[in-house]
Amino acid sequence: MQIKIAPSILSADFSRVGDAIRLCEESGADLIHCDVMDGSFVEPITFGGQMVKNIRPLTGLPLDVHLMVEHPKTQIKFFAEAGADIITVHYEACSKISPDYLGETLSLIKSYGIKCGAVVNPDVPVEKIFPVFGLCDMVVLMSVFPGYGGQRFMEGVLPKISAARAYAASVGKPELDIEVDGGINAKTARLASAAGANVLVAGSALFGAPDFASAVAELARQ
Ligand code: DX5
Ligand code: ZN
Repeated sequence: MQIKIAPSILSADFSRVGDAIRLCEESGADLIHCDVMDGSFVEPITFGGQMVKNIRPLTGLPLDVHLMVEHPKTQIKFFAEAGADIITVHYEACSKISPDYLGETLSLIKSYGIKCGAVVNPDVPVEKIFPVFGLCDMVVLMSVFPGYGGQRFMEGVLPKISAARAYAASVGKPELDIEVDGGINAKTARLASAAGANVLVAGSALFGAPDFASAVAELARQ
C-alpha cells in the first residue's frame, strides 16, 4: 500500500503554525495530524477547535484530529464544525463511560459527513476495537503512551499492526487505513510499514530534521 505521511504539528512552533502548515503542504505530506490534549486524559493541554478552524483555510490537506480527551462525544461538534476531515477517539476514554460509547462517538462523527477512527494505547490489545472496525475509516495504534512528542517507539505495537491488517482483510476492508503514532523515524517507519501500517504520524523526526521535505520523502520511501 502507498504510505501516507501525517506530520504532527505538536512539534511545530505554535507561534508560527501557518508556516508549519505551508511546510507540510510543500513537502508532500498527505495529512496534517492535530494532537488535541485536554490536561485530563493526558497531562498536557495543547489546543482546541479554534486552532483547527484557523488552520483550515491554510491548506487543502486533510486535517487528522487525534482527540486525547475525556468524554470525546461532547467535543465532536467543535472539531467537525472547525473543519476536521477525520476525527479519531481513544478506546480508553470511551470504554470507561460505557461499552457502547465508542461506537456511538464514531457514529456521531460520521453524522457530520467526515471520517472517523478508533485509537488504542500501547497497553491495550487491538482486539478491543475489532467490534468497531466496520464503522472506522482508520484505526490508530499508539506506539508511545500519548501526551508527549519525542518518545521512543515501542516495538510491541508491531504484532498489533499485523493483527489489525489481517482482521481488516478478514472483514472485507483490506485497504483500511492503519495509522501508527509515536516515535516514527526512518528506521521505525520501515518496521511499521512492513507490519502493515500505511499512515505514519511523525512529529519530532520531521520538525527536528535539517530538511523537512527530505525527511518526509525518507519516511514515505518504505
Ligand atoms: C503523542 C502524539 C503524537 C506525537 C508524535 O501523544 O499523539 O502524535 O505528536 O510525536 P513524535 O513523532 O515526536 O513521537
Ligand atoms: Zn497523535
